[in-house]
Amino acid sequence: MKGIILAGGSGTRLYPITKAVSKQILPIYDKPMIYYPLSTLMLAGINEVLIISTPRDVVVFEELLGDGHQLGMKIEYAVQEAPNGLAEAFIIGEKFIGDDNVALVLGDNIFYGKGFTGTLQDAAKLQDGAIIFGYYVSNPEAFGVVEFDRDWNVLSIEEKPKEPKSHYAVPGLYFYDNNVIKIAKTITPSARGELEITAVNEAYLKENKLKVELFGRGMAWLDTGTCEGLTEAASFVQAVQKRQSLYVACIEEIAYRQGWITKEELITLAQQMIKTEYGQYMMQIANEEFTR
Ligand code: DAU
Repeated sequence: MKGIILAGGSGTRLYPITKAVSKQILPIYDKPMIYYPLSTLMLAGINEVLIISTPRDVVVFEELLGDGHQLGMKIEYAVQEAPNGLAEAFIIGEKFIGDDNVALVLGDNIFYGKGFTGTLQDAAKLQDGAIIFGYYVSNPEAFGVVEFDRDWNVLSIEEKPKEPKSHYAVPGLYFYDNNVIKIAKTITPSARGELEITAVNEAYLKENKLKVELFGRGMAWLDTGTCEGLTEAASFVQAVQKRQSLYVACIEEIAYRQGWITKEELITLAQQMIKTEYGQYMMQIANEEFTR
């Protein structure tokens, strides 16, 4: 399975912070925001990733992550000329996806919680259809919303409904079979002029091929859409890291634990940042025999 991170958009809701820089490069405590969605794909076992961003911002991500070889990964880049909608990722990424299945994660979505890695690994085994997730929120009208019957069968999925039929929002993490490319090409822009990911999910639902898994209470899906959300996300990461002295979204650690880089390579990466706690953490991981 391949992975796409969609890290474009205009970021106008965070102006003036994002007037000159990409939202997804902003720090969430001690690392750039894009580390978090990248770590999500890595935990799913995906080491071939396409990062899509704006003509202005794509170079910044390339500078940050390069071709991914330092993480034992293959990272490619592509441009989305205008924010035409999330589903455009599969049209832009068609060649990159090739004959594979694909996971899409939004560059501003941060996940953390018990059992998440197992959930990701299971989703990455997808052979046919689509897997998306449901997360109970207090303000479902701000998201894609999924409606269930009493037996948890999916009845409908709607994008930012004025009158949501449930409290289950659909987070920005989606797993699809290869048909997603064809589907993305057939949907038409919504009233707000975007190729909606919800339209893609509706197409799978119509075919009876949409699986929605619910994230439980122990799962954090953090909001980065507002200044308050950014600060809260940073505080959350700080609190977890301080309490456990285990890092959230240390991509070098994940690459090492996945066996994509050796201990020596991890040490080399750590030495480049040894002045920071982040670098010292990497060194500690390299020198520890067992951490789970
Ligand atoms: O965060 C989850 C939600 O993401 C879902 O529940 C919704 O169904 C889905 O439509 C999306 O809603 P948002 O209103 O959050 O989408 P937004 O336009 O803010 O874009 C999400 C991210 O994707 C953001 O970081 C910008 C980026 N983006 C967005 C668009 C429309 C792109 O890179 N390209 C785009 O064309």
